Amino acid sequence: MIETINGKTRTCGLIGNPVEHTLSPVIHNYLASACGHNLVYVPFHVEQDVFGAVRGGFALNILGMNVTVPYKKEVMQYLVQVDENAERIGAVNTLVRIEDGYKGYNTDYLGLKRTLEMENIRLGHETVVLLGAGGAANAAAYLCAQCGAKELYILNRTAKRAQQLADHVQSYFPDTAVQALKMEEYNELPDRQLVVLQATSVGLHPHIDEAVIEDAAFYKKVKQGVDIIYNPEETKFMKLVRAQGGRAVNGLQMLLYQAVTAYELWNGVTIDEEICQRVLKLLQKEFSHE
Ligand code: ATR
Repeated sequence: MIETINGKTRTCGLIGNPVEHTLSPVIHNYLASACGHNLVYVPFHVEQDVFGAVRGGFALNILGMNVTVPYKKEVMQYLVQVDENAERIGAVNTLVRIEDGYKGYNTDYLGLKRTLEMENIRLGHETVVLLGAGGAANAAAYLCAQCGAKELYILNRTAKRAQQLADHVQSYFPDTAVQALKMEEYNELPDRQLVVLQATSVGLHPHIDEAVIEDAAFYKKVKQGVDIIYNPEETKFMKLVRAQGGRAVNGLQMLLYQAVTAYELWNGVTIDEEICQRVLKLLQKEFSHE
């Protein structure tokens, strides 16, 4: 948190419903302090008037906003510009103030991209399996195909949703073979080493003993597993990957890098990796208090 709020302090914030459990203020206020920026970040609980929130934010000279559930799609119609990747993903979580309104970005996608780079997980020419077809999975599916995955299998409890996402991604990236399966059809996956992205909400605290697939035969093929969940720190999915010798990563870095990327867009700066690592430690500490 910056030491003094004065007449020159800039404001950023988060709009959503609910926003009470967000960690974004912790991250952004730490970044502001670490970078020496005169900036504060606050949560805005928006009951339902998203248009009013965006218009009001602009009128109040708010520098940037994050957008969380349930407004990531709805907000798009109130923006003066939308970044091409966010447009194709169909969701915006970051608004950057420009001359006559806000431009929308999807830093969930950018945060996952940076996490994979940091963890040296390459999707190019790989067989990638995406578990889930909800909001979080949309950005992940798009990224997988954009990174040049050879094949992308989208598995979801509701087959129709998986098919819709597969068709959508396939339309942009003809070179990746995108296929939809029902979750229980995981035994139809090819007998190859897999990179798996877990993008369902199964396993999230307090349901820490649940994973969307439990069968060891599946996990034998998983060389790398990324869970978008960060609470608990080690999910059941991650345990199952590790039990068969695979490498597993949780979603905490995604949370970190989606925020860092938003902060960079608002302030036109690049945050040092050393500062990112300090924020990561801070986040880990937040969870150890729970
Ligand atoms: P988010 O924005 O976090 O992705 P979401 O859009 O509600 O949230 O998506 C949640 C994802 O978790 C979906 O893929 C959902 O599957 P359905 O499309 O079939 O609903 C998946 N999911 C949630 N609970 C599940 C459960 N008990 N078993 C299997 N999948 C589940």
